[in-house]
Amino acid sequence: MIKPVEWAADGIIMLDQRLLPAEERYLKLRSYEEVADAIRQMVVRGAPAIGIAAAMGIALGLKQSIGTSVADLEEDFEYICETMSRTRPTAVNLFWAIERMRAAFQKAKSETSDVEEIKQRLIAEARAIHEEDLAANRAIGRFGAELIPDGATVLTHCNAGALATGGDYGTALGVVRGARDAGKRVAVIADETRPFLQGARLTAWELAKDGIPVTLITDNMAGHVMKQGKVSAVVVGADRIAANGDTANKIGTYMVAVLAKEHNIPFYVAAPISTIDLSIPSGDQIPIEERDPSEVTQLRDQRIAPEGIDVYNPAFDVTPNELITAIITDKGVARPPYTQSLRALVQGA
Ligand code: MRU
Repeated sequence: MIKPVEWAADGIIMLDQRLLPAEERYLKLRSYEEVADAIRQMVVRGAPAIGIAAAMGIALGLKQSIGTSVADLEEDFEYICETMSRTRPTAVNLFWAIERMRAAFQKAKSETSDVEEIKQRLIAEARAIHEEDLAANRAIGRFGAELIPDGATVLTHCNAGALATGGDYGTALGVVRGARDAGKRVAVIADETRPFLQGARLTAWELAKDGIPVTLITDNMAGHVMKQGKVSAVVVGADRIAANGDTANKIGTYMVAVLAKEHNIPFYVAAPISTIDLSIPSGDQIPIEERDPSEVTQLRDQRIAPEGIDVYNPAFDVTPNELITAIITDKGVARPPYTQSLRALVQGA
């Protein structure tokens, strides 16, 4: 099983996703600052995975706190939570995980004044978030499998697989794995996903490792393969889903959704309930991360654009709800109108 992030007694083990597919190297992060930095640098990436990493980073930071009173511990805890919340802005799973850790701290504090006991409870909470993510992705896979016909070819964008989650199934790739495990024949077309190349480096790598047939294309080939009738369905992950179903995902997802509509191809979003943000009415309120221009002007260390050129590098875009056929969650499949269906799923969760 691919394990992007794991709790260990003396730190947090992370697969360095920046080096894939050339090298499978695991790092041991020994402080919460190192974990925050790993999230920022995209050693670990993908909405559920950065939520899990943040929760583990908070638990690690708290474990290392030298505070002897609950008040001292809480001061350190809040500082660590703040640090984690400033790593990446778009994926709501990160903030969801921080809030879960906050609630666990408050509960622990109300039940004990033993500092060591509080630390142990927060470690247990971070590990529970990880375990629950694995189960949620299996459920997404079961619900999603029903939407995928036998013999389908699924086009996906970015990486919403084991690497982007707690491991194992993933979300969008969980749907593919769910279909395969239900006995269906299924193949994948992976967009390379400029500029960070999650499709080429990560999706292609993890599917090939798993024996699922995968064909890599560049992003600008998606329309052509759809027109040729090579795509049965599009399945992508999500970083944040607003109350009305508008969905932020990796930059380029919106373009794929427009193309899918033009070609009458179903466009599915697969994500756990923790990706749904009912506090914002629409995608207009989703903060979009902008990343370093060097991701666009360079391929690894090779410069591919003139020195000093102006660059715009938004890491995500928002797909309007009317382009989304259905949203596959771990609690069931939401269909339009999403304002009602998503609320029902979240409240029933
Ligand atoms: O910038 P990244 O690699 O963190 O972006 C990841 C994505 O956009 C994924 O599609 C999304 O987080 C869903 S992961 C299950």
